[in-house]
Amino acid sequence: MTDPVQDQYEAYPYPGRNPVEESARLVTGSPSRVLEIDHYLFGGQRDWNQPFRVLVAGGGTGDATVMLAQQLHDKGVKAEITYLDLSSASRRIAEQRLAARGLINVTFLNGSLLDLAAMGLGGFDYIDCCGVLHHLPDPDAGLVSLAAALAPGGGIGIMVYGEYGRAGLYPLQAALQQLAGDMPLAEQVTLARKLLPALPVTNGFRNNRFLGDHQRGDAELVDLLLHRQDRAYTVPQLATLVAGAGLRIASFIEPLRYDPGLYLTDPALAKRAASLPMLEQAALAEQLAGNMKLHIAYLSHSDDTVAQPAPEAIPLFIDWEAATIARAVQQQGGIKGAFDGLPVTLPLPRQAPAILKLIDGARTLDAIRQQAGFADWDSFMAVFRPIWRALNGINRLVLRF
Ligand SMILES: C[S@@+](CC[C@H](N)C(=O)[O-])C[C@H]1O[C@@H](n2cnc3c(N)ncnc32)[C@H](O)[C@@H]1O
Repeated sequence: MTDPVQDQYEAYPYPGRNPVEESARLVTGSPSRVLEIDHYLFGGQRDWNQPFRVLVAGGGTGDATVMLAQQLHDKGVKAEITYLDLSSASRRIAEQRLAARGLINVTFLNGSLLDLAAMGLGGFDYIDCCGVLHHLPDPDAGLVSLAAALAPGGGIGIMVYGEYGRAGLYPLQAALQQLAGDMPLAEQVTLARKLLPALPVTNGFRNNRFLGDHQRGDAELVDLLLHRQDRAYTVPQLATLVAGAGLRIASFIEPLRYDPGLYLTDPALAKRAASLPMLEQAALAEQLAGNMKLHIAYLSHSDDTVAQPAPEAIPLFIDWEAATIARAVQQQGGIKGAFDGLPVTLPLPRQAPAILKLIDGARTLDAIRQQAGFADWDSFMAVFRPIWRALNGINRLVLRF
């Protein structure tokens, strides 16, 4: 093999995973939770009795493949999942993880996502491509290839690096390349580990406290600091990439992070920002926040694929439990958390706990409205809208029809 990217992932499959741990936990995340796919790409209205064809492009050690296979299995969906990656070492780990769960509906392929057209795999309803495009020599060609592999009405979940949140990283990558680029990768790892604690206090990477992946293991250190092909995107650059493939951004994840209103306390400025088109708002939010080290987005060929609150919509929590969140909101008067070091407080209306308690994965918003004692939809929405903005904004609440 002569491709340095392929060589890297053969030697250091990413992320470092041990198939034995499958019995202890399911790794979940965005993009590609089934609830998110439905909400952001199918308007919450996908008929899950129909077969579902999935491609995991650049599947690595299997995080998205395992999550999708497990969640679709649990939902009883007739799913056909294809895993594709350049690295056979990564593929072996992903295969072992699936085997540990007794999941068999995955086809494993080694190859490049750039060659999809020639592979004759047919159209996919959903494609996961997380942390891959920014490692291609030509990411635009990569996304064009994925877009062409979509079945009609299908969509893509991507993650690419964010430029501002990776501040300080690229000069250090270049320095390591200069110092040790000709050494075997394992020696570069040793050298990097020696160099890191000794970096000058003024070093940009040392001062970026949000970049900590290298502390998790060698595969993560290689991926962050020793990559031979790595670029990052601003929101406008990402928008250009997406438009170049004839796609649209259905939503960023988490949506609230891309809302400049989160960062602007002055009402007049917030109002100005709110009047901008969606992509300009997202670009502004990124500039103001300064801490977005990656961008997760759902992409589609069509407009309006995102579910919106309506009386028949059923709200569903992602990885949260209604009673627990209702109690926390009661105690705190809202939601408290952090986005990569940015503390966030989202005050919620006083009726929020009573409404949140009624979210059980079966009740519609209209049933919740009635049980919470609201006479009509408008008065309910006056209270529910800020709840929705906050909880969907942090990607914890989605809709299903
Ligand atoms: C950073 S890892 C991400 C793995 C996985 N998607 C995840 O999020 O955990 C990037 C993966 O993309 C794969 N890759 C890079 N270029 C590729 C290409 N042209 N076609 C298929 N896979 C590729 C690498 O082998 C590696 O496993």
